[in-house]
Amino acid sequence: MKEKNGALCGVVLAAGAGSRLGYPNKLGGKPMVRAAGRPLVDHALIKLAAAGLSDVALVVNPANRLVIEAHVADGRAFGLRVTYVVQHEPLGIAHALSLCEDFAAGRHVLLLLVDNLFQADIRRAVAAYTVQAQMDTDQAEIFLVRVPNPQDYGVAVLAGENIAALVEKPSSFISDLAVIGLYLYPPEAFGLIPALSPSARGELEITDLNSLFLQKGRLSYQKLSGWWLDVGTEERLAQAERLLAEQGLL
Ligand code: G1P
Repeated sequence: MKEKNGALCGVVLAAGAGSRLGYPNKLGGKPMVRAAGRPLVDHALIKLAAAGLSDVALVVNPANRLVIEAHVADGRAFGLRVTYVVQHEPLGIAHALSLCEDFAAGRHVLLLLVDNLFQADIRRAVAAYTVQAQMDTDQAEIFLVRVPNPQDYGVAVLAGENIAALVEKPSSFISDLAVIGLYLYPPEAFGLIPALSPSARGELEITDLNSLFLQKGRLSYQKLSGWWLDVGTEERLAQAERLLAEQGLL
C-alpha cells in the first residue's frame, strides 16, 4: 500500500509525568488526563491523523507505557500505525526525539507534545512541509503564538521578519511569541542532538536544537492564529475545557 505521507512521520511525546496535574503515572499520567472527555493522547493522535500522517511513534515512560498501550493499541482506531518508544528517564524533549531515530529511518519528522492543545488547522502547513520533505529539505520549522505569559515557554525574538534568537523561559521580557510544542524537522536533527548539553533542569532542550538550526540559517517559522494552550497545569486544563466547549468539542 502506498503511504499517504511517506516522507513525513509523526512523533508524539507522551512521556511526561504530569505531576502538576496530580494524575498518577500508573494511571497513564498526563497523556491520559482528559480534556473535552478524551485523553490528551487522543487529541494529539486525532490531530496528526487529520493532518495526513499515517505512521507515528508514541514516546512513553516505563510507568505509563502499559496504560497507554492498552488504550491506543496499534493506533488503528485513529487511522494510524503507532510504534512505542520508551524514554526511561525524563531527559528532555530533544532526548525523547533522539530515541526515535530508528523509527524515523531517514524520514522528516513532525513532533507534537501531548500537552499542547490548539485551535489552528495545521493541515496546510503539514502538506506544504511534506512537499519540501519529498524534496529532502534541510529546513526545520517552528510555530509561534502570541501569549500573555511568555516566561513559561520557549520564545522567539524577531528582528523584522527573521528570528534573531530563541530563549527558553526568559526571566525578563524579550518577546511574547511562544514557540509551541509542534515542530517539523529534517533527518539531520538526529545528527545534531548529540551536540547538545543538558540544561540547568538536566534536560536536552528542544530550544537548543532549534537554536542550532537557527545558527545554520535553517529554521523557518509560521505564526498560528487561534488559541493554544500547554495544559500542564490544572488552571490551563480548565481553560482548555472552556475553549473546546466553545468550539463545540465538549
Ligand atoms: C516545552 C519547551 C518550550 C515550549 C513548551 C510548549 O516546555 O521546552 O520551549 O514552549 O514545551 O508547551 P516544558 O513543557 O518542557 O517546560
